[in-house]
Amino acid sequence: MYGKIKAAVAGSINADLILRTERVPDSGESLTGTEYGHANGGKGANQAIGLARLGAQTKMIGKVGKDENGRRLVENLIANGVDVSGVSTEGSQTGLAAIILDGEGRNRIIVYEGANAEIDSDEAAGFITDDLDLLLVQFETREEVVVSVVREAIKKGITTVIDCGPAKQFALEKMRGATVITPNETETEALTGIYPESEKDILKASEILMSRSNARFIVLKLGENGCSVWDGETLRILPAYKGNVVDTTAAGDCFTAAMALEFIRSGDIYTACDIGNKAGCISVGRIGADASMPTAKELSEFGKQ
Ligand code: ATP
Ligand code: RIB
Repeated sequence: MYGKIKAAVAGSINADLILRTERVPDSGESLTGTEYGHANGGKGANQAIGLARLGAQTKMIGKVGKDENGRRLVENLIANGVDVSGVSTEGSQTGLAAIILDGEGRNRIIVYEGANAEIDSDEAAGFITDDLDLLLVQFETREEVVVSVVREAIKKGITTVIDCGPAKQFALEKMRGATVITPNETETEALTGIYPESEKDILKASEILMSRSNARFIVLKLGENGCSVWDGETLRILPAYKGNVVDTTAAGDCFTAAMALEFIRSGDIYTACDIGNKAGCISVGRIGADASMPTAKELSEFGKQ
């Protein structure tokens, strides 16, 4: 379905350490966890694997350290069919994310950036070639790198989707003219000062994001409430699908990858966001980051069982 699409993802590659606990400890409190595990993560790598599993020809642009985690993460990208010619293995230390998962599947994440913060912005922009249909970026690498690849893609007329995770302030004004800006609720609050709970606040936040970025669409990821689409004239809310919630980690990555591919295929932002909601729902039902990403078959069979 998406096999003809050529995509690049510029972003982070992390080793995830996942610790499960019934509840999150208070300050100064030590708790006994119920389970732990290692997983392949990083918002960039998750989205690259998300695209590749859905069949797109996907190139990853990023950096890992000369260590065991770096080797394992690059091997995993290759095993998932991602082209790693844009991944440098010369970083100081591979990025790491410590993820605490509570009894309801909600996460709290601390990221050590390591090699992700050492990506060279000119080198990264050099991988944005004319043949690409899509560029995906997130905010887990330095602002300078994100701005440089996004500007290059916009200059070349490539569809550009900016996933605004993790939550931080970011100079959207330096990347005017992207196709889609897609933050989750906390990222929306960090960028606009408005937590998008009511429809009025969703609209207000979307208007601010659009005026700062001049993007074509503002798509807010609203967790269990689905997502919203603002095109400058109409606001639509697309409700989430109902499913089992085990681990919400990477639901946003999954949504962004699927939504972006479907937008390239159909040119229809609403169909794209509906597919994003389906992919997000599949993701929350599974533990781990890259393990959450569905295949094209899983996505097309979603809801048919
Ligand atoms: P992450 O944990 O990766 O940071 P996120 O916070 O960026 O995720 P969310 O808004 O939580 O992203 O989720 C992304 C999408 O996944 C939502 O827009 C929705 O489509 C789907 N989703 C999230 N939570 C649920 C849920 N409880 N039930 C069904 N679908 C969900
Ligand atoms: O979006 C989920 C990702 O955020 C995890 O894989 C972790 O590495 C952090 O970057």
